[in-house]
Amino acid sequence: MEQDERLLHGSSFGAAATAYAEHRPDYAQAAVRWALEPAPGRRVLDLGAGTGKLTATLTAVGADVTAVEPDPAMLTELRRGLPDVHALPGSAEAIPLPDGCVDAVLAGNAMHWFDMAVAGPEIARVLVPGGVLAGLWNVMDDRVDWVAGLAQVSGSAAIGPRDTPTSWRAETADAHLPKTGVAARFGSPEQAEFPHGQRRTADSLVATLATRAGMLVMPEQEHEATLGRIRAFLVSRPETAHGEFTLPMLTGTPAATPIRASPSPRRSGGISDAVRAPPATRVNAKPSPRTRHTATIQPMLCDMVRASAGAPSNNNPTPSSMR
Ligand SMILES: C[S@@+](CC[C@H](N)C(=O)[O-])C[C@H]1O[C@@H](n2cnc3c(N)ncnc32)[C@H](O)[C@@H]1O
Repeated sequence: MEQDERLLHGSSFGAAATAYAEHRPDYAQAAVRWALEPAPGRRVLDLGAGTGKLTATLTAVGADVTAVEPDPAMLTELRRGLPDVHALPGSAEAIPLPDGCVDAVLAGNAMHWFDMAVAGPEIARVLVPGGVLAGLWNVMDDRVDWVAGLAQVSGSAAIGPRDTPTSWRAETADAHLPKTGVAARFGSPEQAEFPHGQRRTADSLVATLATRAGMLVMPEQEHEATLGRIRAFLVSRPETAHGEFTLPMLTGTPAATPIRASPSPRRSGGISDAVRAPPATRVNAKPSPRTRHTATIQPMLCDMVRASAGAPSNNNPTPSSMR
């Protein structure tokens, strides 16, 4: 995707912020735990946090989350839905946090919008040594017959190559790399898939697909025609015609792609000590060695930023999933 197109699509979500909050899926907790497993601590930056779908899953697994989101309408939804979360305006290219402030940076369905030539050094800056960068992408399981039919009818603006298990690995394997000649700040990712699903009706699935970036930037007539085709398909299929069904998202957070800032092995000590991720399909996307970066640890500064923003303190009670 060209830079202009990326900017247009990446900034399209605010126009549908309320619908996004209502209809987009959350993330499989197992995927989030897996992504956080190598992190040295619980402080997590949710980058491109949108209305807080991944943020909510992060808080549910016991992370101490800071959410950063550039779109004011999306940020308003996030603050409305998750008033106790520390949420800041900002972008991947200009992260409003001090150096060495977080143990992990996660991005849910967002890393492909970042300009990694600028965002890579920014992310490396805010991570502690040994910190983790992980992209997560929710995809729809087109190995299920009716989902494959839906993908065909919808077209790539609604269900693109990043949105199905057959192609997400190839589509996201390089998302952490700069597109220009700038040096990469992160090593090769591991990729893993985890089952997930979302309860939908024909109408609510149409509403979900209407929040895809490709749909939001589409001319109105084409937009209506595409949604009409999708609705007609869903009411024609026995699996989706009547009442609620589960949209199989085989890999709920199908792509957790941890990219280590330093080559620390998966180990005990991070957030998922208490709750281990179940086994997953793992793929080494590239056999290249991981890149090391150094960052200054300034935990006190992180606390100062929170205080100056009038945000709630870090001392969230341990959720039941961590006990
Ligand atoms: C598909 S939404 C995902 C939102 C949320 N993470 C989720 O999983 O629902 C993509 C989000 O990335 C944000 N975004 C776009 N470009 C960005 C950038 N350069 N830096 C940070 N966030 C960006 C958009 O505003 C939008 O909220």
